[in-house]
Amino acid sequence: MDIEKYVKRRAEAVNSALPRFVRGLAGADPRLAEAMAYPLAAGGKRLRPVLLGAAYEIFGGKAGDVLPAACALEMVHTYSLVHDDLPAMDDDDLRRGRPTTHKVYGEALGILAGDALLTDAFTVLLSSRYPARVKPAGLAAAARVLASRAGARGMVSGQAADLGAEGFLRGGVTPARRRKGLELLAYIHLHKTADLITAAVEMGAALAGAPEKDFKALSSFGRDIGLCFQVADDILDVVGDKKKLGKSGSDARNAKLTFASLLGVDGARCKAEALMRRALPRLAGVRGAAGPKAALAGIAEFVYRRDN
Ligand code: IPE
Ligand code: IPE
Ligand code: MG
Ligand code: MG
Ligand code: MG
Repeated sequence: MDIEKYVKRRAEAVNSALPRFVRGLAGADPRLAEAMAYPLAAGGKRLRPVLLGAAYEIFGGKAGDVLPAACALEMVHTYSLVHDDLPAMDDDDLRRGRPTTHKVYGEALGILAGDALLTDAFTVLLSSRYPARVKPAGLAAAARVLASRAGARGMVSGQAADLGAEGFLRGGVTPARRRKGLELLAYIHLHKTADLITAAVEMGAALAGAPEKDFKALSSFGRDIGLCFQVADDILDVVGDKKKLGKSGSDARNAKLTFASLLGVDGARCKAEALMRRALPRLAGVRGAAGPKAALAGIAEFVYRRDN
């Protein structure tokens, strides 16, 4: 399977559906609606919605059945990026190859666009039509997953801890500080990034009404590739091609605690590889269609090898 082609093709469905959902928010302030549409339209890999669709398909449906849920997840992810780039957070000027939302629309509208993307993700998730194979209980479970993985027990706490750890390495790296740093990073990466990636596969499984055992296996898989994804992000911040990344890299400027700053780029690469290898066998026990399982395995490797 050519996984890059697979992700690109699946992402296209998300790209064409997303603007419709924002346009569908009739009555929204026009400038706010523009500031919401702007970061969504810039693109991005759409990895989370693609994962959601693939996890759902393991249990017999078609990704198109759950496109509104996939778009809702991408709206939450995009809000997290808009806020992550704000001056009070990472203070970045470039995202998805374009000036960041607050650079174009001002800081206040950047904050409000993020607020609305988050809130209306739930409008899109819960007010859309789904085929009969998606049961109300599955939809409610998916909404719970999204809320809890994005909220104070999830992504937002990861972001808070990430900001709290800025400057952690300023005194130099002693063995004791490295140990403490690794402990802190385990929490930061699990929550700021792995939680929303875990939510992707969990939402797919929940919408399909998957058995508990398979839901748990997919959840562990999501956690491992989510951690791998953030270690790769740390590496790319140091060695990546800024043009391909579409962002300028601010970890050094912000004295961030990252796997690259703590273990060096080679040490971080070993960590990322170990996480990818730990993720793959988690899929073995999941009962369902082989094609979508192979796609998830391909995505795990893609996450490890990616250059953007
Ligand atoms: C960037 O996420 C933020 C992190 C969690 C590391 P992505 O690398 O998925 O960004 P897009 O969606 O492709 O722009
Ligand atoms: C961001 O982590 C994670 C979230 C937005 C939740 P980073 O700050 O490392 O992401 P980039 O590098 O700006 O995309
Ligand atoms: Mg950040
Ligand atoms: Mg950032
Ligand atoms: Mg980063």
